[in-house]
Amino acid sequence: MQAWVIGNWKQNPATQHEVDELLDDLLSTLKDDKHDAIDNENKIASGRNCQLMVAPSSIHLAAVSKRLQNANILCAAQDISAHSATIGAFTGDCSAQQIIDAGAKWTILGHSERRQYYQESNGPLLQKLTCAMSQNLGVVFCIGETQAQYDAQQTFAVLDEQLSVIKQLVEQSDNKDLKASLTEQFIIAYEPVWAIGTGKVPTVEEVSATHKHIKQTLAGFNENLADISVLYGGSVNAANAGSFATSPVIDGALVGGASLKAESFLAIAKAFS
Ligand code: PGA
Repeated sequence: MQAWVIGNWKQNPATQHEVDELLDDLLSTLKDDKHDAIDNENKIASGRNCQLMVAPSSIHLAAVSKRLQNANILCAAQDISAHSATIGAFTGDCSAQQIIDAGAKWTILGHSERRQYYQESNGPLLQKLTCAMSQNLGVVFCIGETQAQYDAQQTFAVLDEQLSVIKQLVEQSDNKDLKASLTEQFIIAYEPVWAIGTGKVPTVEEVSATHKHIKQTLAGFNENLADISVLYGGSVNAANAGSFATSPVIDGALVGGASLKAESFLAIAKAFS
């Protein structure tokens, strides 16, 4: 199965100039790695395909997409409008159609920071998922429990509640295309809230057990959902990525802080390759 390593840049970097520097670093390091790979047949033979993706803030999205269009790095938005998939009087929003027009093929949805700071719940998330699917925009759907929920051993119950929106999405449509796009253009990112930006991580065994639960739950909604990729996110860095990559049920990583430096981002990608 293909691995995914996705950089969530959040509200970073501060300027277009710094975005350009990060892209320069990413592209030049990737180029050097390609040369190394040609010198090392074993590396090519053993490597599984790892698809890279970055999610800049919407102000930088078009410029980043343009710069990366020939680099085999996909672009994602960090959110889309819940109210309209196209145009409308929704001040401050960007629609799925506008995100596609800016050159992105994916969007993150349901990140815990959006759930926390913008009270995003299943209602608006279902609207956003519906908008994304209607425009063929892929979705990286984030779920995860808080520290208190983890301590109270409520992780699976919390994830089940967050995943119920996917069940609703499947049920509200008997459209075969929707089911096809759910398998091809849909990724789950399991991100314990307590691991995001804290340096704390669950064990690989804990994450693997949780991913198995997520995969079983999705397969229970619809057999077409059995093959959905499930990524881990929360304080992934160059030092710990290798251990997560050893698990056959961890299909990649959603990376925040460590995606803002080309060196650490690409080291994580190598761990999953
Ligand atoms: P982090 O963030 O890697 O900085 O912990 C991950 C995320 O929020 O997606």
